[in-house]
Amino acid sequence: MVKEIQLYLCIFFVFAFGIFYELSIEPGCLFDCKPISKKFLNEKEVMTHGEKIIFLETTNRLQPPPLVLCSVESAARIYLDRPVVFFMKGLDNSTLLDIKSSCPALSAISTLKNVFIFPLKMDILFQGTPLLPWYLQINTTNEKYWVYISSDASRLAMVWKYGGIYMDTDVISIRPIPVVNFLAAESSKFSSNGIFGFQRHNWFLWDCMKNFVENYNGDIWGNQGPFLMTRMLKGLCNLTDFQNMEDQRCHNISFLHPHRFYPISYPLWEKYYEVWDSMPDFNYSYALHLWNFMNHEKKNMTVGSNTLVENIYKTYCPTTYWTLVQAAEGSKGMSLNKTS
Ligand SMILES: *[C@@H]1O[C@H](CO)[C@@H](O)[C@H](O)[C@H]1NC(C)=O
Ligand SMILES: *[C@@H]1O[C@H](CO)[C@@H](O)[C@H](O)[C@H]1NC(C)=O
Ligand SMILES: *[C@@H]1O[C@H](CO)[C@@H](O)[C@H](O)[C@H]1NC(C)=O
Ligand SMILES: *[C@@H]1O[C@H](CO)[C@@H](O)[C@H](O)[C@H]1NC(C)=O
Ligand SMILES: *[C@@H]1O[C@H](CO)[C@@H](O)[C@H](O)[C@H]1NC(C)=O
Ligand SMILES: *[C@@H]1O[C@H](CO)[C@@H](O)[C@H](O)[C@H]1NC(C)=O
Repeated sequence: MVKEIQLYLCIFFVFAFGIFYELSIEPGCLFDCKPISKKFLNEKEVMTHGEKIIFLETTNRLQPPPLVLCSVESAARIYLDRPVVFFMKGLDNSTLLDIKSSCPALSAISTLKNVFIFPLKMDILFQGTPLLPWYLQINTTNEKYWVYISSDASRLAMVWKYGGIYMDTDVISIRPIPVVNFLAAESSKFSSNGIFGFQRHNWFLWDCMKNFVENYNGDIWGNQGPFLMTRMLKGLCNLTDFQNMEDQRCHNISFLHPHRFYPISYPLWEKYYEVWDSMPDFNYSYALHLWNFMNHEKKNMTVGSNTLVENIYKTYCPTTYWTLVQAAEGSKGMSLNKTS
């Protein structure tokens, strides 16, 4: 009985998610009025189509939490004309076909028109890059940071091979990024690797992959991540402190001001989960990085809390927000049923 209720709820969410997403994006336009549509079904066609937005999941997890859905949905809304591609290590071809029944979260985002979900196959991804020999000889059981390191490697190879923008799954897009080749400053003279964009086959990423292998040290967190980006950038240019709100340039790479993605810096990450007197305008930002790796207490967006994060969900991923509201009401309804 409980199983059946779950199944019905599941089916309901998938349909509701899809329909609300379409209506909220383009009222009165339910079928096929997007520049991109699911007629690009195979991975190769999608990956050769324009500038992609790329998300990765390097654990075997198949049920993304709400923050991940919000992140993907916000990108799908901001970049309507681009494929938004979510690669998951835990998927293989058969579970991919099965998504419809492995409810609810994954099928919910797979109903978004420009969102594609594919298996992450590192052995194939690293082919033709400097990362392959490193990948083939590494013994992953000895790597305490493997989830991070494999993600650091995969994002470099993805953007080098296909071009586009890589984003962490705790980045909420709020307006389009107007530059193509860019790195994001996390603070003065320090680059993040949580979001970056390049044209296909950009030399900078090739050099990053070479440096990744030459200076590999799996015992230092971030050595192949933000520290790699930072040392590569410093090797090219003398970075200075940011003046006012101006971005920097290093050769033809834009080094974007911390405010572009980190208007709330990481020591203050809990601010996202607090109630603000008024919603900050984030006028100078392209996306908001929610610092999920700091969130050890697993703080969540709570419906009705009026926290900053609730307002962000309402504004930038209303479909995810709406399904959470429904789920909250549904569970209230069920507990009422139980007590009656
Ligand atoms: C999965 O599908 C791809 C093409 O879509 C194919 O190249 C690959 O061999 C398949 N893998 C398995 C394990 O069936
Ligand atoms: C990887 O390391 C573990 C632990 O040190 C060891 O037991 C295992 O045999 C190694 N695997 C390979 C393929 O070398
Ligand atoms: C950085 O500054 C130093 C000293 O001011 C200078 O010698 C060096 O050539 C500069 N490097 C680059 C890449 O501009
Ligand atoms: C960017 O700069 C590099 C080296 O300075 C150069 O090889 C490359 O052609 C430049 N790319 C563009 C698009 O200007
Ligand atoms: C932010 O942008 C909005 C809308 O464009 C504008 O009304 C507001 O004054 C801006 N805020 C600041 C601080 O510039
Ligand atoms: C947040 O949600 C996750 C799963 O959705 C749950 O495991 C966790 O306990 C929640 N955290 C809090 C603080 O409620």
